[in-house]
Amino acid sequence: MAPGDPILGLTEAYLADPRLQKVNLGVGIYVDEQGQIPLLRAVREVEQALAAQAKPRGYLPIDGLPAYDTLTQHLLFGEDSPLLEAGRVATAQTIGGSGALRVGADLLKKVLPNARIAISSPSWENHRVVFGNAGFEVVDYRYYDAATHGLDFAGMLEDLGKLEPGTVVLLHACCHNPTGVDLDAQQWQQVVELIKARDLLPFVDIAYQGFDEGIDADATAIRLFAASGIEAFLIASSYSKSFSLYGERVGALSIVGADREEAARLRAKIKQTIRANYSSPSTHGGALVAGVLGSPELRAMWEAELAGMRERIHAMRAGLVEKLAAHGAPQFAFIQQQAGMFSYSGLSRAQVDRLREEYGIYALGTGRICVAALNRSNLDYVAEAVAAVSR
Ligand code: LMR
Repeated sequence: MAPGDPILGLTEAYLADPRLQKVNLGVGIYVDEQGQIPLLRAVREVEQALAAQAKPRGYLPIDGLPAYDTLTQHLLFGEDSPLLEAGRVATAQTIGGSGALRVGADLLKKVLPNARIAISSPSWENHRVVFGNAGFEVVDYRYYDAATHGLDFAGMLEDLGKLEPGTVVLLHACCHNPTGVDLDAQQWQQVVELIKARDLLPFVDIAYQGFDEGIDADATAIRLFAASGIEAFLIASSYSKSFSLYGERVGALSIVGADREEAARLRAKIKQTIRANYSSPSTHGGALVAGVLGSPELRAMWEAELAGMRERIHAMRAGLVEKLAAHGAPQFAFIQQQAGMFSYSGLSRAQVDRLREEYGIYALGTGRICVAALNRSNLDYVAEAVAAVSR
């Protein structure tokens, strides 16, 4: 029997829980004030137009919808990117961000069979699994400082500085999963310089673009790598969260090469890898994203909806901290400093177990909670329960 997945397995347990009062703070899914996963208006507009056309469903190209790939590049690198101008980026639509990671990992394993990969300690549970299954030795670099609930930046620089040249370094562009602890622009600049000096290969995972400060600010790491003169890096991106299209599996793998010719070779390699994995991506989700991003009007509508989600998360962070303090637990003020959907709450496994058993509140065993699953109806209940188990 294989063990259950630490994140998706928890949702299974949550769904099977017969209690009426229960809250799923496990999986990273944004829900609205009504506790529902939103269907964005901009997405619905495109969906209705697609349904009216009722087009046949042929296979997409191996690397997905060309418009989707181009629009994704602009979102990641910015509208006036010299890198895009120079044709140095190969992008392929993938089966979610996870698909992008796996395709990137398989491709890297072929071209750099002896490289190791370094991930943050801690990182998204599935990073270790995806790269491990692709045959990589996975090592950790220091990242989270449990004492301050913040970043161990000195430890991070020290560990990155000791990696062998050619090591792949996985970095979270924003809204670090699971901690919610991010680098600021100045710290990113230092990391970029170190990576360049040590000849490491960055693999940036950006699954929450727009969930902290905004589309461009959240892509700071990518923009700095692009401007750094580093010849090659990879990006796994996802629209699951930013478009609220979780089940459509809409992601992309982008690889930057030294020049247009290398990008063409990278595109061929990406396509070869995808063909051997799942052949080609699916049509519907890609068409939704491309339809929104390709229309100035719908794009503006989407940006406003994305801002609404971001602001609600900020409000929930503030609300949680306030209510925890009101329930006698002021030690959680750091939650307001963290960014994105997640917070490493500092709760122990035993406290998390109590939350689940006594209150029907599901959090990861590591203490990660999804702040985006809070709303005005469950906030007080959660705060009271967290305060109770922390006493
Ligand atoms: C999470 O971390 O909860 C999300 O990225 C969903 C997943 O696939 O794990």
